[in-house]
Amino acid sequence: INTYVHDSSQNASFFVANEIADLIRQRQKQGKMAVLGLATGSTPTKVYDFLVKFHKEEGLSFKNVITFNLDEYFPMEPDSIHSYVRFMNEHLFDHIDIKKENVNIPDGTLDKEDVREFCEDFEKKIKDAGGIDIQVLGIGRTGHIGFNEPGSSLISKTRLVRLDRVTRLDAASDFFGLENVPTRAITMGVGTILSAKRIILMAWGEGKAMIINEAVEGSIRESVPATFLQNHQNCDFILDEAAASELT
Ligand code: F6R
Repeated sequence: INTYVHDSSQNASFFVANEIADLIRQRQKQGKMAVLGLATGSTPTKVYDFLVKFHKEEGLSFKNVITFNLDEYFPMEPDSIHSYVRFMNEHLFDHIDIKKENVNIPDGTLDKEDVREFCEDFEKKIKDAGGIDIQVLGIGRTGHIGFNEPGSSLISKTRLVRLDRVTRLDAASDFFGLENVPTRAITMGVGTILSAKRIILMAWGEGKAMIINEAVEGSIRESVPATFLQNHQNCDFILDEAAASELT
């Protein structure tokens, strides 16, 4: 893991958005698709703001972009205010020229017995697209990446999981109470994430400082899934000063 500390999350997000835009333009020139792995939550929103800006002001096109989102709550209707489908539409997809058929987000509306097949198909779609070029990640206080909570294995694939209590507590205010937070989600696995060619994990604020220190300097273990990123050859952590404050 390489760590880069920026003086603000705004500047850090600009830096990340530029790397993504460069990949898209480079692939355009080659007549190829760019495959992006995307995250939701508060961390990547400024990156998406910049990508929308590049589209509107600099003509950056997303016609050659395929996206795979990390996760979605289960069950979840796509038009719910809590849905990650809705989140992605509002923050990015509604404002750019990506083709709807190139957007892939785990489906929170499935019957439980259909989830397994959906997850296998999701993995196959990533492979068929040639693999993820850049996977964007946030990190949860439990050390989760995607919704791979403590106990997730190194080789886990896309699947239905149970959310950690800490993760549900962190989401409780958004859901107006812990009892309203879903107990499950569909998430890409640790193995899915690690198969990306490049990984960019972002973290802002002092609330992330302890877990960033663990992820970068802690021993590699299932109880802190983000430590598995230490195994990846091309993984950068992009931090603001507060999130980096516990690094030695
Ligand atoms: C979201 C995701 C999660 C978040 C993490 C941090 O798709 O996979 O791992 O990245 O929970 O959330 P925020 O950014 O809201 O602090």
